[in-house]
Amino acid sequence: MRIGGGSVSGVAEVLAQFGLSRPLVVTDPWMVSSGTVDRCLEPLRAAGLRAEVFSDTVPDPTDTVIEAGVAVLKGGDFDCLVGFGGGSPMDTAKAMAILAAAPPGTKMRAFKVPAHADRALVPVVCVPTTAGTGSEATRFTVITDTETDEKMLIAGLGALPLAAVVDHELTFSVPPRTTADTGIDSLTHALEAYVSRRANPHADSLALSAMRLIGANLRTAHREPRNAAAREAMMLGATQAGLAFSNSSVALVHGMSRPIGAHFHVPHGLSNAMLLPAVTEFGLNDALRRYAEAARAVGVAGREDADQVAGAKLLEELRALNRDLAVPTPRGYGIDPDAWERLLPTMAAQALASGSPANNPRVPDEAEIVSLYRTVFA
Ligand SMILES: [Fe+2]
Repeated sequence: MRIGGGSVSGVAEVLAQFGLSRPLVVTDPWMVSSGTVDRCLEPLRAAGLRAEVFSDTVPDPTDTVIEAGVAVLKGGDFDCLVGFGGGSPMDTAKAMAILAAAPPGTKMRAFKVPAHADRALVPVVCVPTTAGTGSEATRFTVITDTETDEKMLIAGLGALPLAAVVDHELTFSVPPRTTADTGIDSLTHALEAYVSRRANPHADSLALSAMRLIGANLRTAHREPRNAAAREAMMLGATQAGLAFSNSSVALVHGMSRPIGAHFHVPHGLSNAMLLPAVTEFGLNDALRRYAEAARAVGVAGREDADQVAGAKLLEELRALNRDLAVPTPRGYGIDPDAWERLLPTMAAQALASGSPANNPRVPDEAEIVSLYRTVFA
């Protein structure tokens, strides 16, 4: 991992360290039209590398886009992928590498959990431009099945980037809404990793560090987009949160969030934010000591606060964060109440099938998930 302001200028050296010289850069149309992708292409070309670009990625990447990307990958003489952008381009690059290693005709859904996606045709180097999904540091990719509208969790070493170049200067131009959504996503990763039933001391240290960084800097980064110190802290926090949940796991918020994204196209971080206070309240007493420690890391409680008090302060802070960052309820976002109600059984089933709810301190059944979806709709 190369972390720090300006580190993207060293992307060619990172490839050279691994003997890679024929990259296909996977990004989105906005990165191309805004010229942001040049921050990655210029150092590659300056090093004499012939970098080609696949920019047909979409938000909430789909299996059909992955298949198109695999065709480009296999149609050229590439030895690696560079995922450049937010979570969607990075996840697209990771999924392309996995699908390309499978026999022709294999569908992306063959890799959804509980399957293991451990093989990749070529290595992936990730350069995140948001803080962020943490995808640059995880063994996960999330791909939508266009036949079933399911956001599939795909896990395995095939999804683990070979290297990551984490440059917070790429986030200066991220608009406030995206800063808020991606920042809450990072906070959710850290919190879920920390309270997960699969938590462990290695992931804990990363999650606590991420919560300290994000808790102290999210509002500032949202309010002052060019505040370098806040952007740097958020970027490091996002990457550490990614490392944390890649080594423990996310839990119920993510399990319930993916179906909201799949069926109603709510950005991932925003659907997490809609769920975070209610889901935290649901599990609070089942991992009170951990939630209280999280409140202290985020900076809203101190050592003098008993766990019960600290836990309550965490809940209060998550609600305040949603107010300060103008997070709407699903109803406020414009989702049709009838469509929401009609899809609840499917959404609950898909949430459970992802396996993430089983990592929650309090493991819900299908009826409890439906009830939580009703609570947050508002
Ligand atoms: Fe996430």
